[in-house]
Amino acid sequence: MAGSESARPLVVAANRLPVMRTEDGWAPSPGGLVRALMPLLRASGGTWVGWTGVPDDATDEFTLDGVRLRPVDLSSEEVDEYYEGFANDSLWPLYHDALRRSTFDSTQWESYVGVNERFADALADAAPDGAIIWIHDYHLQLVPQMVRERRDDVLIGYFLHIPFPPWELFARLPWREDIVRGLLGADLLGFQRRIGASNFVTVARELLREDVTVDEADAQVVHHRGRSTEVGAFPISIDNDEFRMLAAEREVRRRASSLRTRLGDPGVILLGVDRLDYTKGIGLRMRAFLSLLDDGTIDPQHCVMVQVATPTREAVEHYQNERHEIERLVGEINGRHGRLGFPVLHYLYRNLPLEELVMLYLAGDVMLVTPMRDGMNLVAKEYVASRRDDDGVLVLSEFAGAADELTDAVLVNPHDDNALRAAIMTAIDMPLHERQERMTTLRDIVRRSDINSWAERFLGALAGRTDDG
Ligand code: ADP
Ligand code: F6P
Repeated sequence: MAGSESARPLVVAANRLPVMRTEDGWAPSPGGLVRALMPLLRASGGTWVGWTGVPDDATDEFTLDGVRLRPVDLSSEEVDEYYEGFANDSLWPLYHDALRRSTFDSTQWESYVGVNERFADALADAAPDGAIIWIHDYHLQLVPQMVRERRDDVLIGYFLHIPFPPWELFARLPWREDIVRGLLGADLLGFQRRIGASNFVTVARELLREDVTVDEADAQVVHHRGRSTEVGAFPISIDNDEFRMLAAEREVRRRASSLRTRLGDPGVILLGVDRLDYTKGIGLRMRAFLSLLDDGTIDPQHCVMVQVATPTREAVEHYQNERHEIERLVGEINGRHGRLGFPVLHYLYRNLPLEELVMLYLAGDVMLVTPMRDGMNLVAKEYVASRRDDDGVLVLSEFAGAADELTDAVLVNPHDDNALRAAIMTAIDMPLHERQERMTTLRDIVRRSDINSWAERFLGALAGRTDDG
């Protein structure tokens, strides 16, 4: 792996530690990122720095599966101001096409700066000489430069999991220059899509005009105050084998077919699986489904929808409003088109174990991934990886990062009602040979670039930065 090739110890920072509290102590959190990084950390004697997810939780450093975990404690006030406030009520909407109004509040900004300082202190303290420090996501954009000021012997990589917005939107941010200078502390800045990388370069040029020169001969490199930062696209992926193997389990397959029976043996199951986030376009797809039912294009006895929505950021008002709207729509759709004992839209608002998600992926004939904006969207890749039968159709928004790679999906602009209706019908009516052809290609793409190759590519590029200085 690249981490060991570089022969430097690895230290990771993310807002959350890769663990959940259980009755018996700590357990690793689910997710491909955690599974990809933990072995690299273990092999290099590394540390993961992050929040336990519980406010005012003064937990000391501990070890799990051979990896040192170093908690950064957040007070309840910081959870309000840094996490729910600046990260999720200022940056999140702004970075997602300004789909909701961002709050810009200087108290929240100060809290963000303070928490970023604490992460930088913890990293500077935890990193062995010459370590590679890999910082993740929008919560920690100031940390690269803060670490740079504390330690000049380390290599610093930063990966943004969400979109990086165009200059016209980023320019609204009152603290835009601080953020850009914070990020430029890194040796390597990774984005999900090429458009994100080039948006960042434009922003750096516009804001720091006199300071920056951009070398586009090879990779994009921003030269800034005597240092240089490489900027590139590193589309994240999933643990392909995990989904492939779960989908092969007899019990998972049995439950997928018994689910179809429980749903009344419909000809077609439409499926949505998302965090209940206003970026995910859950309402758009439900309204398209409703209009297809209203005009009789879809027969509710032939086709049903299942929507699983994960609770998320429930203290933030935009999320509360979104939930009310989705749940109102569920009521409207079933009120108008369900039958007693046979709702046409089955809705769950909860977390599910991975086996159940895979069971749903196997049961879903058409997977609807229709975000208005999404960094990548791993659900799209998980669906594809689970379809060992080479069947099923993925309807995918052009505005998800995954659309750059999964071009054999039925790609759609979800803002266009008619296009979304048409995409759903194309998927429902698609002949078996075309479904199989498309799914085979999609599965190859996900198999060839999984989460391990993503981590290797990023860490390899970061290790290569030693030559550039
Ligand atoms: P985001 O990072 O914005 O939440 P992604 O689609 O990239 O969106 O990732 C979502 C992750 O959450 C996927 O790995 C998916 O399996 C998981 N997930 C989604 N819904 C649920 C649920 N109800 N229960 C458990 N995990 C879920
Ligand atoms: O995709 C962005 C992201 O912040 C992920 O890093 C995270 O897993 C997910 O959204 C859920 O967010 P939160 O940590 O706010 O629950």
